[in-house]
Amino acid sequence: MNSTEVLELVDDLIFAKTGKHLEDLQKDVLKGTIEGKTYSDIAEDSGFSESHVKNVGQELWNLLSLILGEKISKTNFKGICEKIKRQNFSSAIILGNCHTNPTANTNNINIFPVNIFPDRERYCSATLTRSPTYLENSQESKNQPQLYLAEAPKIFNFYDRSSELTTLENWILKDSSRLIALLGISGIGKTTLTLQLIKQIKTNFNYIIYRSLRFSPTLDETLTKLLKKFPQEADISQNIETKISQLLNYLNQYRCLIILDDLQMLFCSGKIAGQYQTESENYQIFFQLIAEMNHQSCLILNSREKPIEIAQLETKNNSVRSLILSNLGLGAKQILDNHKLSDEETWENLIDIYQGNPRWIEFTATMIQELFDSSVAKFLQWEKVILSESLVAELDKIFPRITQNEQTIIIQLAQENQPVTLHQIDKTVELSTSDLLNSIQSLKRRLLLDIKQEDKTTYFSLNPVLKQYVIWKEEER
Ligand SMILES: Nc1ncnc2c1ncn2[C@@H]1O[C@H](COP(=O)(O)OP(=O)(O)OP(=O)(O)O)[C@@H](O)[C@H]1O
Ligand SMILES: [Mg+2]
Repeated sequence: MNSTEVLELVDDLIFAKTGKHLEDLQKDVLKGTIEGKTYSDIAEDSGFSESHVKNVGQELWNLLSLILGEKISKTNFKGICEKIKRQNFSSAIILGNCHTNPTANTNNINIFPVNIFPDRERYCSATLTRSPTYLENSQESKNQPQLYLAEAPKIFNFYDRSSELTTLENWILKDSSRLIALLGISGIGKTTLTLQLIKQIKTNFNYIIYRSLRFSPTLDETLTKLLKKFPQEADISQNIETKISQLLNYLNQYRCLIILDDLQMLFCSGKIAGQYQTESENYQIFFQLIAEMNHQSCLILNSREKPIEIAQLETKNNSVRSLILSNLGLGAKQILDNHKLSDEETWENLIDIYQGNPRWIEFTATMIQELFDSSVAKFLQWEKVILSESLVAELDKIFPRITQNEQTIIIQLAQENQPVTLHQIDKTVELSTSDLLNSIQSLKRRLLLDIKQEDKTTYFSLNPVLKQYVIWKEEER
């Protein structure tokens, strides 16, 4: 078993037990152990003290001993992995035949290493089980859902977001929310968060389905795709109303978690935020029915813009919620750590400027690696906020979508040195009051404004990245 396979397997085991993924140093210990390195070698490679690495190693072996039901140490770990590999490959037929019982050959090791073939779960999740001993001790014994995640990107790292995960988990599992909008600017981590959420709560569902709306499918196409995932009790109707009621029946009969990602692709470009294109308008009725009809399932909508109807439904229906995803916070330090950047004392400053947006920080970290010898301090010496090519390309996708009036306001805000009130904006832009208010509301729905309350007054501003981008675009014109 190579070190990547070992890391995947151990990560899967530890996640199932603790709900947490392996940390970087734990990965270094495992990898070093497989490669026959001493603690002193691992400490030197990872930059930590030998005693700290030993402690981390010992905790890891203790946890693995608990999970596997036999004593694991640095000395026997490689041998145990080989044993797992032999058992797995002797039952490798399951790769071709998902219905073979994978628990039959577990002998004295109490796990079945499902993640040795990482993508297999997508195709035959319903039949994957772990050995009986493992199941008894595990939350996963509750349920093995049918997972339809083939369209979802794979997540490699996940940091922080524990409060957002708890909020979503409570809304879905405790409050039985039926419709949740997860909102945030591009790159803030909506897709990643929902995929992590699935890992944590999947055993509570019969079906979990992820679909992206990035190519703006019609409601009819989306319903057909969703209906095909369920056992066909009757033919899928040609009629859209019947399709909706067929789906609602399934949502009532089974507990399902459906994620529709990239919802903003159904909205008009160049119009007020959250307005559906004509051919997508009937999604509104569908979402309203999901919110109002009786069923035991939940639909999560990921979007860069808040749909207008969500705001209305939220106020009158307590099974509809929305969560705005913002700054990843100090979790973003781990992104900088992965890029092996230096000057840790300056990292918070960098994270602040780039709004804790994981994608913006990844782009910037790559630039720092390539052009600034990995030194964050050297990068921050530049007076201006620097926007890498990739970051500009990302922002270029946002701005053509906003209206002329919104652009006028954004350009004005980019020139302000301090947050300003509505009255101050009103004095500096030539817009009617209703245009001004509607445009501010729309920018708010797109999560493009920084808004703060002080002494019962609301102040608006642009974050440093958007500000620099707008100034730069204006200079270019
Ligand atoms: N909590 C996190 N931990 C580690 N990396 C993260 C986290 N959240 C996001 N990322 C990384 O940031 C990048 C953007 O995340 P993601 O695609 O989830 O954003 P998004 O909000 O869905 O963006 P979009 O609106 O473009 O779909 C990805 O590379 C992802 O790996
Ligand atoms: Mg996304």
